[in-house]
Amino acid sequence: MKKTNIILIGFMATGKTSVGKKTAGILNMDFVDTDLLIEESLGLTVPEIFAKFGENYFREKESQIVQEVANKNNTVVATGGGIVLNPGNMKALGSTGIIFWLKAPVELIYERVKNDGYRPLAYNKSIKDIEDMYKKRYNLYEKYNDFSIDVSGKSVENIAGEIVAYY
Ligand code: S3P
Repeated sequence: MKKTNIILIGFMATGKTSVGKKTAGILNMDFVDTDLLIEESLGLTVPEIFAKFGENYFREKESQIVQEVANKNNTVVATGGGIVLNPGNMKALGSTGIIFWLKAPVELIYERVKNDGYRPLAYNKSIKDIEDMYKKRYNLYEKYNDFSIDVSGKSVENIAGEIVAYY
């Protein structure tokens, strides 16, 4: 299958959703966000899903949604930060699209997520906790990306412009 999709991966709060929307607009592609699709399918927000059913259930739903998304063409896909935890997710997404890793230093991520109640895995955590999670996932983002883009200090337009240039 031809790889027509653009897949955005990266840690929480690296701008996957806003950059994805902007990129889709520039290239006249469709846009989906896996977190939003999970929320729509259950009629609950991400924090509600974590609180009611736990992380494992969220991951199952996430993997189901990924399999559906992998049938799409000409689509920019913003993913949740934990998408790389399941190799099956990356196999499905990677077979349909080019994978871009939006990369930011952990200090910047911590500043963005520390008071954000929308991200249950990061809310009220110490920088050490965030750093531990970051270290565990870093190798996975590295393993699965086709292109990596350092997003620190760049505008959404700038980052989208870089993706368009690579694509
Ligand atoms: C998660 C990231 C979130 C969301 C969920 C779990 C993670 O998405 O999928 O809270 O495990 O990193 P964002 O990367 O958009 O914050």
